Amino acid sequence: MNGVPDMRTEEAQSAPSSKQLRDKVVGNLINMRAVRSERVEAAFRAALWHLATPDADVTKNYRVEDAVITKTDADGVQLSSVSAPRIQAMQIEQADIRPGMRVLKIGSGGVNAAYLAEIVGEDGLVVTADIDHEVTERAQRFLTTTGYDSRTYVVTGDGELGVPEHAPYDRIVVTVQAADIPPAWIEQLVNGGRLVVPLQIRGMTRTVAFVCHGDRLVSDGFELCGFVLMQGIGENRVQLVLLHDTEGEEVGLRLDGHPETDAEPLWCRRL
Ligand SMILES: C[S@@+](CC[C@H](N)C(=O)[O-])C[C@H]1O[C@@H](n2cnc3c(N)ncnc32)[C@H](O)[C@@H]1O
Repeated sequence: MNGVPDMRTEEAQSAPSSKQLRDKVVGNLINMRAVRSERVEAAFRAALWHLATPDADVTKNYRVEDAVITKTDADGVQLSSVSAPRIQAMQIEQADIRPGMRVLKIGSGGVNAAYLAEIVGEDGLVVTADIDHEVTERAQRFLTTTGYDSRTYVVTGDGELGVPEHAPYDRIVVTVQAADIPPAWIEQLVNGGRLVVPLQIRGMTRTVAFVCHGDRLVSDGFELCGFVLMQGIGENRVQLVLLHDTEGEEVGLRLDGHPETDAEPLWCRRL
């Protein structure tokens, strides 16, 4: 002992624990009505979120509106993230998941699957699929470490095709922005089941809750949101083309469609 206080120990002692951070966020989520049911509240209090992204700043994991970006492409486009707690809670409430259900989640981060596993319980099943093997490997590690692996299957593949080997599902929750609803999702959903999917409609992304009535999907409401874009068969990147007139004014054109439109002829035209 040299009489000098050890600042690292003092800092560690005064830093809030992950449980305290979690409880604070859950309180905020309840106040903003993103968490509305006891089931979802209990799941958010129980799952150890911060272990899903051990390299990220623990306080960032526990901010209501912050996603943790885990992968970007060479152009800086975000490819994968652990979604913001408010968005996760909102979608899970939209899905109205009950104990014993079979749930397919498209887009994996691990955390969301842990909440779903908490809600469906021992008698339920959660299948989480991601197109990126690095994401599924991380999700599998997290679910194994936290003890959810007995009721979760992590699958690497294009979620556009669903995961037929574990179908049918009571709920399908899509956590990546889709341009359309592929037939596989409807085929793999039970009658009366719910599909929650972020769709871009007139430039805004809304996560829509659909209820399956036979071969029809009926909307039961939507919430505004933001998600990374779908890759694979259902990819549909929005392209922004800037055109300049003779005065140097810029006009932006947002082009929707895949494969990307050849914008070169537009560049060559003077307005
Ligand atoms: C927002 S992240 C998922 C977040 C996650 N639900 C969480 O725990 O917060 C979206 C994920 O969708 C994945 N993805 C993109 N296109 C996909 C596709 N066609 N099939 C399955 N996963 C896809 C990306 O690799 C990315 O990891």
